Order: sequence, then structure tokens, then C-alpha cells
Amino acid sequence: MAKGKPIIKTEEEIEIMRESCLLVSKTLAEVGKNIKPGISTFQLDAIAEEFILDNGAIPVFKDYKPYKDVKAYPYTLCTSVNEEVVHGMPSKNRILQEGDIISVDCGVVKNGFVGDSAYTFPVGVISPKKKRLLEATKQSLYKGIQRAVTGNFVGDVSNAVQMYVESLGYSVVREMVGHGVGKNLHEAPEVPNYGRRRTGQLLRERMVIAIEPMINMGKAAIKTADDEWTVYASDRHPSAHFEHTVVIRTGKAEILTTFEFIEASVNS
Ligand code: MF3
Ligand code: CO
Repeated sequence: MAKGKPIIKTEEEIEIMRESCLLVSKTLAEVGKNIKPGISTFQLDAIAEEFILDNGAIPVFKDYKPYKDVKAYPYTLCTSVNEEVVHGMPSKNRILQEGDIISVDCGVVKNGFVGDSAYTFPVGVISPKKKRLLEATKQSLYKGIQRAVTGNFVGDVSNAVQMYVESLGYSVVREMVGHGVGKNLHEAPEVPNYGRRRTGQLLRERMVIAIEPMINMGKAAIKTADDEWTVYASDRHPSAHFEHTVVIRTGKAEILTTFEFIEASVNS
């Protein structure tokens, strides 16, 4: 996925990324306001696309081809419902129902730099079990972010996510990972959500990474659907996904995306 050496950004580039990340955060909140039983994931995609274009940016997932031989991704959002882990494709036929959970993943490019974030929303009232999965997955993201500091290694971030969710009985999806982010959606290093401390890439000041735990309530195994994109839990138990774009700093990571707009408008 992300080859080569991690790119150290300049403070000027980080300022530009801050703007891209602010927009993607506001886009997720805009989508969140519209999440309710009866709306289709296709409608959510249209809302996001219009909002992004109106704000002088471009949806970065649309037409994205992560590798040769995969068909280009045709939408602005990934909308992954219940047992879908990531890369769920928006569809007019996918109508949200009370009790569903939906991961909405969005990336934009503005002034040449990408912002990438994801949030899993409840649809109406959800079961306590699903609610606990969402809380734990979001919390695991912040556990990882706490370790995303100068002098640590990617494995420290990965390990923090893994230890937290496994202590609660959940499973980490292995096949998909977070990533460096900048001019491109996917840059080095890869950021797995499991691993050993003090291993992998050394983290340095001004590297920018997207940390994105994908956590299953059941077993970790996944499958890809016939549409070639949608990834779902093989045992069809629910899955959650949260993502922030984060700058490596000394002492404390700087989070460029924010859930504050979402959480101000959605009662979760
Ligand atoms: N946030 C996801 C990622 O970083 C979404 C990518 S979807 C794609 O991989 F369509 F752009 F591939
Ligand atoms: Co990402």
C-alpha cells in the first residue's frame, strides 16, 4: 500500500493539512446530522460530496485506485453498516434502520493535501453491546494517539490499540491498517492496529499518520464482498472504525481532525 520512506512535513504543510482535516471533520458532522432510519447510504454520499465541493475541495476516495487490478472506488464516502468493517459502498438500496451502526469514512484533498477521518455512528437507539463496541473502538484510537510521539515506534501505537481492545474481548482486524498521509492518501508508514512495542518505524517530529482501528465484536477474520470493495466480518458480528489524522510531536501528538462537530450535533 504505502511504499518508501515516511515524509516529514514542514510546519507550512501542516497548516494546510489542518485546513483539509477541519473540512473532513465538518463533512462527517454534516453527514452525521442526516443519519437516521430511512435514509440511504447513497443520499449520505451525495450530501458529503456536495459539501466538500462547496468548500473548495475534492473527495479523495472518488476514483481512487489503491493498487493495480482493483476497480477505482466510485464514491466520496465509505459507508460500512453493522458487520461491514470498511469500504462499504454507498447504495440507493441500503436504507438505514433503527439499531444499525454505520462507519462513515471520508477523505478530502484541499490545496494539495489530504485530510482523512472516520466515525462510527449509531442509527437511532442501538443495543448496549453495540454501544460498548463503539466506545471501546473510539477509546482505542485515543490510546494509540497517546503513543504517537517522537521517539516511539509505530509498534507502540499498534500495541496500545491492540492491548486495549483485546482486554475487552474484541478482535483487531489485521489485513487493513492506518497509514502516513500528506499529498497522497496513502504514504509510508503502514500503521497496523496490532503489534509489539518498540518495533517498526521510528516516529519523528512532523510525520503525519492516519490511525484507524477497525475492531470486531466477534472474530478478527474478514472477507471481501462481490462488489470487490466492501469488507465484512466473516462471522457477521458488528464491527466499528474510527480514524484521526495525527501529527507526531514531542511529548504529545497533535490531532488534526476532530470529532467535536459530530459530537456537538449527534447525541452519541
Ligand atoms: N480511510 C480509508 C483508508 O485510509 C479509506 C480508503 S477508501 C478508498 O484506506 F476508496 F479510498 F480506498
Ligand atoms: Co485512512
